[in-house]
Amino acid sequence: MPTRRDFVAQSVLAAAAIPRWKPTSIRSLYGAMSSGDGAPDDESYWQEIQRAFDLDRSIINLNNGGCSPAPTMVLEQMIRDVRFSNELPVQHMWQVLEPRVEAVRRELAIEFGCDPEEMAITRNASESNETVIFGTDMKAGDEAIITTLNYPRMQNAWRQRELRDGVVVKRLKLPTPIPSDDVFVKAFADAITPRTKVIEIMHLSFQTGYVAPVRKIMELVRGKGITVLVDGAHAFAHFPMSRDELGADFYGTSLHKWLMAPIGTGFLYVRRNRVKDTWPLLACTYPTEQDDIRKYEQIGTHPAANHNAIAVALTFNRGIGQDRKTARLRFLRDRWAKRLVAYSPRVKMITSLEPGAAGALAVVTIEGMDIGKLQGWLWGKHQIMTTPLVGDEFQGLRVTPNVYTMTQEIDRFSDAMEMAIKVGVA
Ligand SMILES: Cc1ncc(COP(=O)(O)O)c(C=O)c1O
Repeated sequence: MPTRRDFVAQSVLAAAAIPRWKPTSIRSLYGAMSSGDGAPDDESYWQEIQRAFDLDRSIINLNNGGCSPAPTMVLEQMIRDVRFSNELPVQHMWQVLEPRVEAVRRELAIEFGCDPEEMAITRNASESNETVIFGTDMKAGDEAIITTLNYPRMQNAWRQRELRDGVVVKRLKLPTPIPSDDVFVKAFADAITPRTKVIEIMHLSFQTGYVAPVRKIMELVRGKGITVLVDGAHAFAHFPMSRDELGADFYGTSLHKWLMAPIGTGFLYVRRNRVKDTWPLLACTYPTEQDDIRKYEQIGTHPAANHNAIAVALTFNRGIGQDRKTARLRFLRDRWAKRLVAYSPRVKMITSLEPGAAGALAVVTIEGMDIGKLQGWLWGKHQIMTTPLVGDEFQGLRVTPNVYTMTQEIDRFSDAMEMAIKVGVA
């Protein structure tokens, strides 16, 4: 966990590199330093963190998992670069700003624990994951294994490979919640055949909050020539992790979720020895770019402002520190979830509340309650934004607070939920 000195040093460096930070943002970072140690329940510290965001505080946003607001300093750099680009795009955007993506690559690589030559900057997890889904050579009859709860856009991509290439996609239906890692790993082990070429797993399930045992899946496929794509859309910058802990060869994530980077940012990690044989979605220059991680960034004209501001989001996150951030997120989750579980036997958590498990993303179901109506009631009557999950396999309300969420906001949500359980939402 960073010390106070680290925090000050990083903030000074960042402030020096980004001369036009909004003064209030800088004050918030320094305010956070002087207001406490940043323990999960240290409201004076987190009060300062929330001041780094220019948000409408008359609403309570508990859907940061879908897409998070960025701190003001991130937004400010992006807007500054958009204006600068617009003055003379061919020079300012292409010649001045675009090359700075290399600093973003370097810093993201440090964060994930890989080489910069393995780190492609993309626009979101969908682009990253579909690069691997479409970029892996598979013949008709070759098999991919996913679960029925994998992210729908990735499922669409697999369906397209089925329709177009005759690939066979096995969709595992696992119990919700998944009882243990062993059950998860065994389901994949049982589905593997000599034709299996790809397994796609979510690092953190967007529907249940389950954190998959990535390393165990990597061990399962060792020596079998199977590519494992880890969909990390919800995991990166949510809880501590590194490439080496995971052992992953491919990892796709969005950065506009838990890193709080500008909307339309993500990364694709590809292990160095897999770059050459994994096709980009959009063609690169052959043969010179074939073995270059930048081949996944040949997407035509696009704003440099968005991806360059990832560097500021990294600075902001490092200022808090991943361990401290994760501890706060789990504290906020436990505060509402444990209260509601104690309140009524109708409340059932789909997400594990074991110490150290998962993060802020937690899903609750209330026996006998229509989750769609509950979500509409929370928003319409209480201006509390949550996510309804209503599918064939289960129903649940997804709640994703963030670092700017205050405990009184969590308590207002819990009050409203207790009222809903008591008197209904009709
Ligand atoms: C597990 C998972 N994968 C992929 C995505 C797609 O993310 P994006 O829309 O940022 O590409 C999401 C979005 O919520 C997700 O939860």
